[in-house]
Amino acid sequence: MCLLERLAFGVALLVAAAVQAVTVMVAAAADEPHFGQPVTQADIAAWDISIGPDGAGLPPGRGTVAQGETVYAAKCQACHAEKGAGGPNDRLVGGAGTIAPDKAPVKTVGSYWPYATTLFDYVRRAMPWDRPKSLTDDEVYAVAAYVLYLNGVIGQDEVLDAQSLPKVKMPNREGFTAFPRWPPK
Ligand code: HEC
Repeated sequence: MCLLERLAFGVALLVAAAVQAVTVMVAAAADEPHFGQPVTQADIAAWDISIGPDGAGLPPGRGTVAQGETVYAAKCQACHAEKGAGGPNDRLVGGAGTIAPDKAPVKTVGSYWPYATTLFDYVRRAMPWDRPKSLTDDEVYAVAAYVLYLNGVIGQDEVLDAQSLPKVKMPNREGFTAFPRWPPK
């Protein structure tokens, strides 16, 4: 091969390599991971379960103290003891009046928590500890009613639902310092 022929051959090889590189890039672009697909409302709903202190976001459903006693015995008592007395896990009942400067605080739902709506939110998302999110909304209303009843916060015949739960005033409601950035403007 003369020099010119060699040069022409070299250029042809380079062009072939470039064409191949572009082909590979185009193929790779077609196979790219499909990031950024819009999330569906159904996907969001499964995570959008926060309940505001004022009850915003509470679902339909209802539960009585008596129904809650049944739920509690079956699904809570093993860890929180009979009537929420505590053991092996957190005590849920009692301690009234111990959140005070001169007392040893016994923090329970009844003595410490400022909003009844938080009980619904917490139990629905986190309890039973070993099977979170397994309760129906009716069961959560009912067991919340039972725990509030055990704490003397509501009467034995009260029914909890999205309307009545936010109206329950917790004993320690005024025991907290206001958070200056709440509610958000
Ligand atoms: C397998 C054991 C287990 C079961 C069953 C269980 N819990 Fe709990 N619970 C826990 C543990 C552990 C904690 C503490 C979690 C933490 O501090 O993060 C807790 C914490 C709580 C608290 C918060 C107490 C506080 O003042 O901080 C509430 C309320 C509660 N549970 C309610 C319930 C209810 C209602 C049920 C039944 C539907 C239930 N739990 C079933 C283990 C359990």
